[in-house]
Amino acid sequence: NGELSVGIAGLGTVGAGVVRLLQENAAIIAARAGRPVRVVAVSARDRTRDRGVSLEGIRWVEDPLVLATDPAVDVVVELIGGASGAARDLVEAALAAGKPVVTANKALIAQAGGDLAGLIRGGPGIRFEAAVAGGIPVIKALREGLGANRIASVSGIFNGTCNYMLTRMRDEKMEFADVLAEAQALGYAEADPSADIDGVDTAHKLAILAAIAFGRQVDFGAVHVEGIRRISAVDIAFADELGYRIKLLGIARASEAGIETRVHPAMVPENSALAKVDGVNNAVVISGEPVGDIVIQGRGAGAGPTASAVVADLIDLARGRQTPMLGMAPDALRSEASVPMAAH
Ligand code: NDP
Ligand code: HSE
Repeated sequence: NGELSVGIAGLGTVGAGVVRLLQENAAIIAARAGRPVRVVAVSARDRTRDRGVSLEGIRWVEDPLVLATDPAVDVVVELIGGASGAARDLVEAALAAGKPVVTANKALIAQAGGDLAGLIRGGPGIRFEAAVAGGIPVIKALREGLGANRIASVSGIFNGTCNYMLTRMRDEKMEFADVLAEAQALGYAEADPSADIDGVDTAHKLAILAAIAFGRQVDFGAVHVEGIRRISAVDIAFADELGYRIKLLGIARASEAGIETRVHPAMVPENSALAKVDGVNNAVVISGEPVGDIVIQGRGAGAGPTASAVVADLIDLARGRQTPMLGMAPDALRSEASVPMAAH
């Protein structure tokens, strides 16, 4: 086996983090992948910007679409973001060309996953471990480690920005706007941070988890989505006095009536596992039969944790591990059933 040649579109927080991780842990990654994994081409908007990583020996491509058909690129890593535009054009072109794709783009997978599945047609497909809960390998856990289980519910804290903000507002008594600016400076927030604070990013992640966990269409139009915009320091202090923490939760639960999916802030008892998940951390609680309850937690945003998940997908690809379609029931994320984000 020769090396796995990677083309990366998007060199922001995550893209630069992936380049850095592939350079710094090259030997460990090559050993686990069975061959070297090397970035051969990159693309972003501003060629002059210092990315904080060495791009020596890496080809700069002005138009990311070129990566889709470039014979020197084995896998396209899409780290631009957004459910439409350059990110979607690139992913569609790569899949149509039969090239595997790795992405951290939850908006794209949640809103266009079904359409993308239609482009795969037995090809190598699309991997998106980094799209949900940053460094927590929850997609792998659901698909592989828990593959034998009947899942009753998937819930938890899926947005690092909001959890960081709620933690700092409580611990440091910081104002909403100031702590949002901090989360943005740390690289946690989306390009448009209203996706974080209005709960839409959590809804994207919940939609992806629910489709994989339940293996069927989820009535995404019925997702209740409420963010943290109206949570004040006073609410947090009152909750504190009563022995609770305020957390933004995503909840997907199977019932006889179907799959219930909702996103909203909630008061959780201060001695519960979720109350102790602070800062940029996320936690995913999975209830399955026969496994019981599982809680996985770790950093849910930022360059390092997200790069960890992106590179895990690259290692799987290098080893030739197969992923069925999008790794979920083929119909589970059809676009007509996706979360109507404009409505939120
Ligand atoms: P950034 O905004 O930091 O980076 C986006 C990159 O895309 C930039 O390098 C930008 O170029 C480039 N870009 C934007 N538009 C175009 C275009 N039309 N053509 C070519 N390049 C373009 O985003 P993040 O790194 O934070 O996020 C990337 C993806 O990862 C998103 O889908 C996000 O949701 C997801 N994600 C992010 C996490 C995080 O913690 N930040 C965690 C998990 C997932 P330039 O730099 O020149 O402006
Ligand atoms: N903006 C997202 C968050 C990035 O804060 O959780 C990780 O998906």
